[in-house]
Amino acid sequence: MQNETPAAPVIETRDLTRVFGSYTAVDGLNLTVRRASIFGFIGANGSGKSTAIRMICGLLPPTRGTARVLGCDTAAHPERVKQSIGYMSQRSSLYENLTVWENMMFYGGLYGLAQEERRRRCTDVLARMQLTEKRDVLAGGLSGGQKQRLALGCAILHRPALLVLDEPTSAVDPTSRRLFWNLLSEMAGGEGTTVFVTTHFMDEAEHCDEIAFLQAGRKIAAGSPAALKDELPARLYVLPCESAGAAEAALRAAHAPFDEVYVFGRQVRALIPRDAALPPEVRAQPAELSMEDVFIYYDRRRRG
Ligand SMILES: Nc1ncnc2c1ncn2[C@@H]1O[C@H](COP(=O)(O)OP(=O)(O)O)[C@@H](O)[C@H]1O
Ligand SMILES: [Mg+2]
Repeated sequence: MQNETPAAPVIETRDLTRVFGSYTAVDGLNLTVRRASIFGFIGANGSGKSTAIRMICGLLPPTRGTARVLGCDTAAHPERVKQSIGYMSQRSSLYENLTVWENMMFYGGLYGLAQEERRRRCTDVLARMQLTEKRDVLAGGLSGGQKQRLALGCAILHRPALLVLDEPTSAVDPTSRRLFWNLLSEMAGGEGTTVFVTTHFMDEAEHCDEIAFLQAGRKIAAGSPAALKDELPARLYVLPCESAGAAEAALRAAHAPFDEVYVFGRQVRALIPRDAALPPEVRAQPAELSMEDVFIYYDRRRRG
């Protein structure tokens, strides 16, 4: 890690692959994560996100390929990698029958912080996570959002340059999700921490600097949210139809090409190939793509 140059990527995987028996959970993954960015790792359940994360964190050896984290090969130096990053696993790592303060002091101890320094940092981090008032409450008695903030607090006590968060907000209400993302933005923007985060909330994906979509262990698309929308080979239209089936029938009747037709909220939406023109008899309003539309495009196309 001493040899690291400022421009070096914080995470770099090359052909990262993990096979369980005859099943390839992560398949030839190439990722580059820049310093001080929020990198979103997006994919359906079972697409291989946690397996990739466990290899990146030095918790699982790859079957093939490499992961370098902060300039260090994770398979060769798993202990060094584990000590230098902050990791929040998908399952809670909190001790429910210890208080908020005791949980933090315990994790501070694991990172080898001396007593005085440990107390100081726990106090600071508690305030930052808006948990000072909960200091003496058992972790088991916290709300979902408070638990996530406590887990985040425990993961940043040693001031890691990289935070790896596996679905941190899946059990959290919308207000807590917003607060949590504000904290992540502060850490990345103000302090230069790199954040690697998995989510299946597309509104969260929108907040990332860079995104990679994973499907069946493979990266199927990557880029900034704006670039992914700009470069999508399809345009979005809203059709005044009662159902996706009716919209599809109308498009077929007009011989209009389409990639996908689906219901989104109260709208029927269609993705039309970018270079195709809609026949005038199709009643459709052009609309702005959301990340959800981009995800639908890639997800359904690859499934065939
Ligand atoms: N230790 C394991 N042994 C066998 N199969 C596994 C193991 N861990 C994960 N898998 C399989 O690998 C696939 C990807 O799992 P995972 O990485 O947890 O996906 P995600 O986090 O995207 O939901 C799943 O089909 C899962 O069942
Ligand atoms: Mg997972």
